[in-house]
Amino acid sequence: MTTLLQVNASIYNSSGQSSRLADQFVAAFRKRDRAAKIVVRDVAAAEPVPHLNAERFGAFITKRDERSAAQHAMVAYSDTLIDELKQADVIVIGLPMYNFGVPSQLKAYFDHIARAGVTFKYTEKGPVGLLTGKKVYVFAARGGLYAGSPLDTQTSYVRDFLRFLGMTDVEFVYAEGLAISPQSKETALAKAVAEIGRLTAYEAPLEKNAA
Ligand SMILES: Cc1cc2nc3c(=O)[nH]c(=O)nc-3n(C[C@H](O)[C@H](O)[C@H](O)COP(=O)(O)O)c2cc1C
Repeated sequence: MTTLLQVNASIYNSSGQSSRLADQFVAAFRKRDRAAKIVVRDVAAAEPVPHLNAERFGAFITKRDERSAAQHAMVAYSDTLIDELKQADVIVIGLPMYNFGVPSQLKAYFDHIARAGVTFKYTEKGPVGLLTGKKVYVFAARGGLYAGSPLDTQTSYVRDFLRFLGMTDVEFVYAEGLAISPQSKETALAKAVAEIGRLTAYEAPLEKNAA
């Protein structure tokens, strides 16, 4: 059974454009794979992830049998987020752009899932990500137009971070220019929905002995 983890990061919960696009992708995915298990984690609105601070990071790096009860609770929360990722075959991220970057709660989520020895390890050849074999789809909603320009630091940041944890198969779908005009918004959303259709189109199994 395939497990899909949907991570929403809009401050507008499921009304955010990025969440809506992620929802549409997941609905189409579910049509194709009715047995798929869908898990939703809302990191910004419903269950905001707390920002990393010295106490939290201290808990992560304290040996298990030396942790206080409060530290155990902080690590258990991070472990829950990581377990969801480990269980997932497919990860869908709804990614709003706020002030040129990712929502601060998504950054906080990233800070909770990047754990040395758990989701990545350091080797003589450099860091190695441990969350491998996953397919990631990112639905990026933006008021302006940035994709493909040097101003789009968001894409490279998210891609680099996911790669650091071992997730190298990452596809971005953009809905840009949402704040430019009603027509620009309509066109951008229609383009993103068409892209979702392409990504979730039924792929016929290859014929055996096909030429
Ligand atoms: C606080 C805030 C900051 C924003 N900053 C930017 C920005 O820097 N660049 C941009 O293109 N759009 C910006 N926008 C527009 C959002 O990217 C756009 O509304 C998008 O739909 C957000 O995704 P969401 O609807 O899933 O929350 C901002 C919106 C808000 C609310």
